[in-house]
Amino acid sequence: MSVATPSVRSLSGLVARPGTASTAVSAPVKIDVDRMNFYYGAKRALDGISIQIRANLVTAFIGPSGCGKSTFLRSLNRMNDIIPGTRVEGTVLIDGQDIYTPGVDVVELRRRVGMVFQKSNPFPKSIFENVAYGLRINNMARSKAELNDRVEESLRQAAIFDEVKDRLHESALALSGGQQQRLCIARALAIRPEILLMDEPASALDPIATQRIEELIYDLKKTYTIVIVTHNMQQAARVSDHTAFFWLGRLVEYDRTDRIFTAPAEKLTEDYVTGRCG
Ligand SMILES: Nc1ncnc2c1ncn2[C@@H]1O[C@H](COP(=O)(O)OP(=O)(O)OP(=O)(O)O)[C@@H](O)[C@H]1O
Ligand SMILES: [Mg+2]
Repeated sequence: MSVATPSVRSLSGLVARPGTASTAVSAPVKIDVDRMNFYYGAKRALDGISIQIRANLVTAFIGPSGCGKSTFLRSLNRMNDIIPGTRVEGTVLIDGQDIYTPGVDVVELRRRVGMVFQKSNPFPKSIFENVAYGLRINNMARSKAELNDRVEESLRQAAIFDEVKDRLHESALALSGGQQQRLCIARALAIRPEILLMDEPASALDPIATQRIEELIYDLKKTYTIVIVTHNMQQAARVSDHTAFFWLGRLVEYDRTDRIFTAPAEKLTEDYVTGRCG
């Protein structure tokens, strides 16, 4: 199927208006992607992506299955590097530094840019050890007391501490799906990333667990820059400040979430958010 390439509206070109919108537009740029192409072997999965993701806001990626949302998300902490035959063109700057430049410490990059996956993936260890693991391998706790404090703090941040405080040394695999997902968020937060990438973090959860994750995202953006992939339009509208709409490997439109959902510039965006295509 061929689709004309629409022009991408840039947030930086918008005139800030009073109220929340001006705050959103003037937030500093955390991730600056310029003309990125991404290939799996000979197949191009992302085509000329340019986007500036703002600090301490929630940015949602939406678009139909296979349009490249996960590929793009993974390219932001070089998680795609582990897939043989992949190649990136263009630049990805985080705090002004090119993350694909030779010599970048990828382990350190992934510490700064944490990731939570669609399917929660706790280690087959205790609840405590799931969160302590990253602290230990990164030498981030100098004493047992500090380790305990950091584990508790992370579990509290992920809004799960009260549910697990009496069974920290029991297996994480005995938790419910929603609890496991929050544990994985605690695990990601423990090593104090600056950016949290979330790939459909609530897609397997019931409405109550989903609501808890959404409340959590809202709280976390005070401290973190959050990028979330979601297929749920209501969720994107509820949790995000900015929304990027992807289609066939291209970024069609990127704007304040309220505009994307009420007055998008592109017909394709309108058709997608109103459920007429995709
Ligand atoms: N490991 C891989 N090897 C080869 N091609 C891949 C790989 N992963 C994804 N692709 C292809 O890249 C394109 C984008 O896939 P991606 O998973 O990024 O889409 P998505 O928007 O996240 O979709 P969904 O909403 O279904 O999760 C698809 O055509 C997919 O088949
Ligand atoms: Mg995906």
